[in-house]
Amino acid sequence: MKNSKEKIFIGKARGPINIALIKYWGKEDEELIIPLNNSISLTLDTNTFYTETKVTIELSDNKNNDSSLQNNITLTINGKPSNVTKRIRNIFKKFFSFDIPICKELASTILNIKIESINTFPIASGCASSASSMAALVLAITSALKLENILPKKELTKIARLGSGSACRSILGGICEWVKGTGDCSYAEQLYDNNYWNLGVKLIIVNQKEKDVSSSVGMKITKETSELFKYRINYVVSKNLEALKKNLKEKDFNNFAEIVIKDSNNFHACCRDSYPSINYLNEESDFIMKGIMILNKLKGNNICAYSFDAGSNAFLIYEMNNKNIIDNFFNYIFDFDHTEISDLFKNIQIENNENNINEINKLKERRPLKEKILNQIDFILGEGTKIIYE
Ligand code: DP6
Repeated sequence: MKNSKEKIFIGKARGPINIALIKYWGKEDEELIIPLNNSISLTLDTNTFYTETKVTIELSDNKNNDSSLQNNITLTINGKPSNVTKRIRNIFKKFFSFDIPICKELASTILNIKIESINTFPIASGCASSASSMAALVLAITSALKLENILPKKELTKIARLGSGSACRSILGGICEWVKGTGDCSYAEQLYDNNYWNLGVKLIIVNQKEKDVSSSVGMKITKETSELFKYRINYVVSKNLEALKKNLKEKDFNNFAEIVIKDSNNFHACCRDSYPSINYLNEESDFIMKGIMILNKLKGNNICAYSFDAGSNAFLIYEMNNKNIIDNFFNYIFDFDHTEISDLFKNIQIENNENNINEINKLKERRPLKEKILNQIDFILGEGTKIIYE
């Protein structure tokens, strides 16, 4: 080492999950992870659900003479050894390609790199998120190399994209858009910060299994085989993006919820239309969707939206002043408490008439078994991935 006196670089960061309101599905470029369309998401807080990653980069005394940067990288997730993917290597390669002294120095030395990742997702929640882990990894490396005041946030979103497309949106807080761009110019930007709109998100976990078709594989099949998907890319997404941006600007929750629900439906319809057909949803997801449609109908306007990523766990989105209504309604239809229907109507401010009683009780009769609802986690919007200084 000519310049650096240090031999070990350590950095740590915590990354959040995000829920897409307009879904990213399908790549224009598989290697660079360029999407076929812009997407918009909510970054969630990291109070209960997050990935925390520590990176230790140790210099060996050997020069790295070839350009393949074959460093020794190890990864553990919750203490268990895990596979170091090509995408993780691509993230390091990207860092070492910058024309910054420390990056150039590291690029010319053989390194021992240790990645220790912990995620707090309840065991077997089926929610392990590549978005939070790749975003945390990028900020941990940034911190280890002391680049936080050198690399702009936009650049960090581009690096995170190389780890997993949706990770670029988890770098930033609040409401974010991943701008498709081209080549190296595909990045995420913040539309509004986390204090702009007092939204809450409830994640209802109804499936503990790992999905049998990963997002990467699923989107490839859909792109190659679904006719409906062509319509989504050429027509539906741009229309939804425009409408959602308008609703966000006006804080018009009624129309916002309609677009969010429709985009989730359209994305899952495209998965179903794929050949072989892909189904990420299950009976419990279906029940939750029906519940929200009935609640919105009885209220006379949309107070709750649902959205499902590539899995059957439901994300419910609402304005925080309506959180109690949503909690009461779901506790009742899941039979989690002993509320009488008359009290429910009082709580959720719906007229206590025979039609309404029938509609809700008919729904309740079809409720999933209690043990199928594995967990419910409440979020507010968060600030994005943060470096942890120790
Ligand atoms: C349905 O970002 O996991 O959640 O880029 O191949 O890693 P890769 O895929 P990933 O896909 C996420 C798909 C989605 C929608 C979204 O988050 O926009």
